[in-house]
Amino acid sequence: MLRTDDGQTVKLSEYRPTDFILSGVEMTIQLFEGRADIVTHLRLQRRAGVAADAALHLDGDDLLLESLALDGNIVAPQNYEATPGSLVVSNLPESEPFTLTVETRIVPEQNTRLMGLYRSNGIWCTQCEAEGFRRITYFLDRPDVLAPYKVRIEADKAAAPVLLSNGNPVETGDLPDGRHFAVWDDPFNKPSYLFAIVAGDLDAMLETFTTASGREVTLGIYTEKGRAGQAGYAMDALKRSMVWDERRFGREYDLDVFNVVAIADFNMGAMENKGLNIFNHKYVLLDSNIATDADYGGVETVIAHEYFHNWTGNRITCRDWFQLCLKEGLTVYRDQEFSADEREPTVQRISSVRRLKAHQFPEDQGPLQHPVRPGEYREINNFYTATVYDKGAELVRMIATILGREGFRKGMDLYFERHDGEAATIEDFLKCFEDASGRDLTQFALWYAQAGTPTLSVSENYDSAARRHEVTFRQVLKKGAAGTGTAPMPLPIRFGLVGRNGQDNDAPARASGPASVDGDVILLEGAEATVSFEGLGERPYLSVLRDFSAPVTLEHDQSETDRLALARLDPNLFNRWRLLSDLVGDALATAGRRPLGDQTAALGDEVVDAILASIGDRGLEPAFRAQVLGLPGEPEVARQVGENVDPDRVHEVLESARAAIGSKGMALFESLRDELASDAPFSPDAASAGRRALSNAALAYITAGSGDAQSAVDQYESASNMTDRLAALAILSHRFPEHPATSESLDDFYKRFETDELVLDKWFALQAVAPASNAVEAVTRLTEHPRFTLRNPNRVRAVVGSFAAGNQVAFHRPDGSGYRWVADRLIELDKINPQIAARIATTFRAWRSLEPGRRGKAEETLRKLSESNSLSKDLQDIVDRSLK
Ligand code: TRP
Ligand code: ZN
Repeated sequence: MLRTDDGQTVKLSEYRPTDFILSGVEMTIQLFEGRADIVTHLRLQRRAGVAADAALHLDGDDLLLESLALDGNIVAPQNYEATPGSLVVSNLPESEPFTLTVETRIVPEQNTRLMGLYRSNGIWCTQCEAEGFRRITYFLDRPDVLAPYKVRIEADKAAAPVLLSNGNPVETGDLPDGRHFAVWDDPFNKPSYLFAIVAGDLDAMLETFTTASGREVTLGIYTEKGRAGQAGYAMDALKRSMVWDERRFGREYDLDVFNVVAIADFNMGAMENKGLNIFNHKYVLLDSNIATDADYGGVETVIAHEYFHNWTGNRITCRDWFQLCLKEGLTVYRDQEFSADEREPTVQRISSVRRLKAHQFPEDQGPLQHPVRPGEYREINNFYTATVYDKGAELVRMIATILGREGFRKGMDLYFERHDGEAATIEDFLKCFEDASGRDLTQFALWYAQAGTPTLSVSENYDSAARRHEVTFRQVLKKGAAGTGTAPMPLPIRFGLVGRNGQDNDAPARASGPASVDGDVILLEGAEATVSFEGLGERPYLSVLRDFSAPVTLEHDQSETDRLALARLDPNLFNRWRLLSDLVGDALATAGRRPLGDQTAALGDEVVDAILASIGDRGLEPAFRAQVLGLPGEPEVARQVGENVDPDRVHEVLESARAAIGSKGMALFESLRDELASDAPFSPDAASAGRRALSNAALAYITAGSGDAQSAVDQYESASNMTDRLAALAILSHRFPEHPATSESLDDFYKRFETDELVLDKWFALQAVAPASNAVEAVTRLTEHPRFTLRNPNRVRAVVGSFAAGNQVAFHRPDGSGYRWVADRLIELDKINPQIAARIATTFRAWRSLEPGRRGKAEETLRKLSESNSLSKDLQDIVDRSLK
């Protein structure tokens, strides 16, 4: 059990601790061109009660054993069995501690999966979560095995002047033959997935931070040569994160150094290795010439997220990978709260909810559905999902809503106090909130076990004679692909009763049925309950599910007139956005169900006017108004259409909605452009970014309404920062593919930025999503470009990922050529980097909701993939589950 190397399913119900306890690890890693020699000393002891003849099973992946010793003596061949995937040692001491010395040799240069020890632009680096450490040495490679590590790295001094690992630096020195060494000591017990080393010729930005209790910490951000100057914003974000965690959660940093290294070839965003975070360089390196406001926001969030893991993930880790949301959901919640405090809470909440609906809802409502805490997996890498991360964060947010800010903080304090240094479970986590608040969270735990998005239906009845307003709430959860339960779950519903004067009413409330009211939160605990409000002289507007207080699909029987009125009046700004966004979403879905070519206006005049009224309201933040202008994406509209989806029709509907808003709002958008124009030097702060977002949204609508490219051409040419330049280029390549200025601008962009891989990714991605009729041929040409490579995940995501997820019309070409093109790339990529191949393959998951022709083509493509008999476990798992 808990072994994944045999292709079997791993089950939560089969968890048991290891037979042997690990109490310390010492490693010597010698790096050479073309190989690394690794000697690992494991201090082990048989666990009390374990049979004296039980063998020790260590995990491996693609390993070669060079030698094996027990307390310094070579182990006889009959006492062990080594394969690339495991090392089994028998005849070990019955109860005394012993030291096992394992020697392996690996070739980092040949590691294209980017898991374990590999080289990126000459830099040696590691990625061990989830199961990468076993690609370095044989080990008890699971998160409930915690130990202190001492690591010695040796390398050529010229090739790798910088040698880093976890913990504190203890010793450095020279060796013969131009080599040198560094020793690092990590006193904190940690699981192997948090192990890291980095070695290379790196530049650094070094600063110091003094913690609340006076500890001096050296902060280092390491980059490729010549790029440390682009780490300034990341450094600033890091310091703000450190201050915030002290103030908001009372959590201080605990080592003498905190290092971040930016790496070009990286499978995900970043990794929280203890004291040595390793980042995709996309989330570290920027300045206003090469990065957009969205990139700045990404750096801030990811820096904060990885830093916050030091307490939620590292000091308290996960007992097993089923508990992944224990660290990820909680840490996403923490980084969301950080961004809300640092920027603007309503705008931050809107963008989190948009992200949840765009990524998590389709996952939760399709074949890849799984609970926030899955009950089984074939490949754990495929569970780093929107459900575990983003829905996981929503569950923490609901606990905070139910307990209130102070109650939540008490529970968190107890969690840190009780489980520091341990590998914990969701049950441990929930127990802390129960003990701190005296509440029973048994029913709440269902949120972790039941997959799917519940529907919350709300109906209202106003009795003018009795001056009473009655609101009935019903929740329904349908059984989906995961086959988990459908019992009612506690739903915190933040609400307000808004009067015609735009103020919240505080009418006394009484619940009948399984619900309770506490301030502005109704907690629905059963399938159905009614809440009545007394003493209301006029029918109020019900503003429900404020701040998206529960991750549900809302069905509210509110008339369009009421929704439009509330969209102007609601003191809760989040709900003003939500009302408009739901009105638009419903209208687009309705239009999307009509046949291709249907000319009926997708958006009614009242809805367009309501949007324009809020855009013209100078009392609202520009960033908020930009959010109101952001229509849902094509996959989101397709999801709401529900079945027999024609992606060409969805595209057509969205384009006509843009044109309608653009032409009706032309004068307003043009005056906003003038108002928002600025000669001030670039600043990445939230308010300035909000103004750029609104101005660029206005530009997009002006060009959509007028069909004239000139204003975008002008902005491209005069832009003084990447946000404005890229916004203009995106409009040109999306809307004016045939215009001569488009190819000129694309060429100009390439020439300006060809030395910067991160900017080139933007150039590739823009072209991969252009919805031209020859898009499959165009994306094929992109893969033939000399700068395209399947070895760099960012480049693959920019081309193949962007095409499959962001070019709906081309991916879903009726002849199936888009599906086949992606499948062919996946087969090539799978041989190099299965994790990325599996991730991109999830774009097929909505195939069942397509119209019959495309459905058949997509299914055929998936079946062929599934039966090809050569897929990695990662890709096979996604393809097979998608077909379920
Ligand atoms: N723990 C990382 C985070 O969320 C996720 C991560 C980074 C990861 N790299 C990975 C997960 C590689 C799996 C494989 O911050
Ligand atoms: Zn994380």
